[in-house]
Amino acid sequence: MWKGRFQQNTAGLLSRYSESISFDSRLYPYDIQGSIAHSKALLAAGILTPDEQSAIESGLRQIRADIDSGAFQFDPALEDIHMNIEADLTRRIGPAGAKLHTARSRNDQVALDLRLLLLAETDAIAALVRALQKSLVTLAAGNIDVVIPGYTHLQRAQPVYFAHHLLAYVEMLERDAQRLGDSRKRIDVMPLGSGAIAGSTIVLDRALIARELGFTAISQNSMDAVSDRDFACELLAAIALIGMHLSRLSEDIILWASTEFGFVTLSDAFSTGSSLMPQKKNPDVAELTRGKTGRLYGNLIALLTTLKGLPLTYNRDMQEDKEPVFDSVDTIKAALDINAAMLAEITVNTARAAAAVSDPMLLATDLADYLVRAGLPFRQAHEVIGKLVAHCIETNRAFPQLDLAAFQSFSSLFGPDVFAVLDLRRALDARQAPGAPSLANVRAQIGRWQGVLG
Ligand code: ARG
Repeated sequence: MWKGRFQQNTAGLLSRYSESISFDSRLYPYDIQGSIAHSKALLAAGILTPDEQSAIESGLRQIRADIDSGAFQFDPALEDIHMNIEADLTRRIGPAGAKLHTARSRNDQVALDLRLLLLAETDAIAALVRALQKSLVTLAAGNIDVVIPGYTHLQRAQPVYFAHHLLAYVEMLERDAQRLGDSRKRIDVMPLGSGAIAGSTIVLDRALIARELGFTAISQNSMDAVSDRDFACELLAAIALIGMHLSRLSEDIILWASTEFGFVTLSDAFSTGSSLMPQKKNPDVAELTRGKTGRLYGNLIALLTTLKGLPLTYNRDMQEDKEPVFDSVDTIKAALDINAAMLAEITVNTARAAAAVSDPMLLATDLADYLVRAGLPFRQAHEVIGKLVAHCIETNRAFPQLDLAAFQSFSSLFGPDVFAVLDLRRALDARQAPGAPSLANVRAQIGRWQGVLG
């Protein structure tokens, strides 16, 4: 492609070091789509005749079909996907092919290709986020009666509906969907026409290209357009957050599936055994998801670090953007997909959940609230109940095993109605503020999500 300027061939070592075709070949549908749009602008500018443009377009469509079918031979000596396709086009259709690169550089071309790919991938990831939300809502709806201890510091805190716990993840994923939609806006900018750095003396109708490709906006500064990878960083950040959410969900599932908790059983289809210990059933999907999140963070940091020292505009360093971007896209899609499938086959162990949540200590705060309603300031109520808890631990008894006199020895404000406070369902139903887990609220939230997710 640069044989005019050079007397020597590229060293084999350099070719192998600099090739990107081994990983950027996946840009091909977008490279071809972009080139067809570009050829239409060249036609409109009078650079191509209608015959040349249609030869280019049909040649590119044949190449697309050949790559789709696996018949296309990629040549590493041609470095990247852009040169592989262009060289093959010229081989196929002759001189018209050599006109395609007019007023274009690989710098704006690769920016275009990456944006087109990431628009499609962002939509695919968003659809998988939706599917996982649905899976969580279905699991919540199917276990609406199950109550589990909620935890802070991994210590039993207060009772919550299992569904309420799951719906927390639906909220987290909703923010993820919003972030994807937001970063999509910055991807949706058409860079072609920026050339290598300073546009071209051959002026193309950039709006026409944008329309052809379905972009909403065109870039406004040619130097920014060829050096900008913010959109990729933003997407990797959004993906890293999805990973963080999936990793936390994984951790909950790992705990819940342990013998110690026993709240859920994973289906055999989504568990693995041990080659040594016959009794083992391991939550590998959750563990792998938790582990892969490290890669997602690494990819974000890798790309940010690659970009941080670069002077404007394009530098070859930027070829290093693709592998982390592709890896994060592929990893999060696989993780979202398998987690939705795994959740669809989870069994909730109602009896184990009921046993765990029957721990009366979970209602200690409700007892403090009882004293508050009787007029005691909360700080004092907290202290009274703290002493009551210590007494129960010391005497190895639970709140319901104390009689009224025992309660009253800690505060004269206790009356016979204190025992009603210790009723689990009543305690949950009392939590009626928006966002709190009364049964009515949880049902309403499930209904809302079913409406939103369809
Ligand atoms: N393969 C290159 C990349 O991925 C395409 C752009 C090359 N541009 C250049 N001036 N060498 O970034």
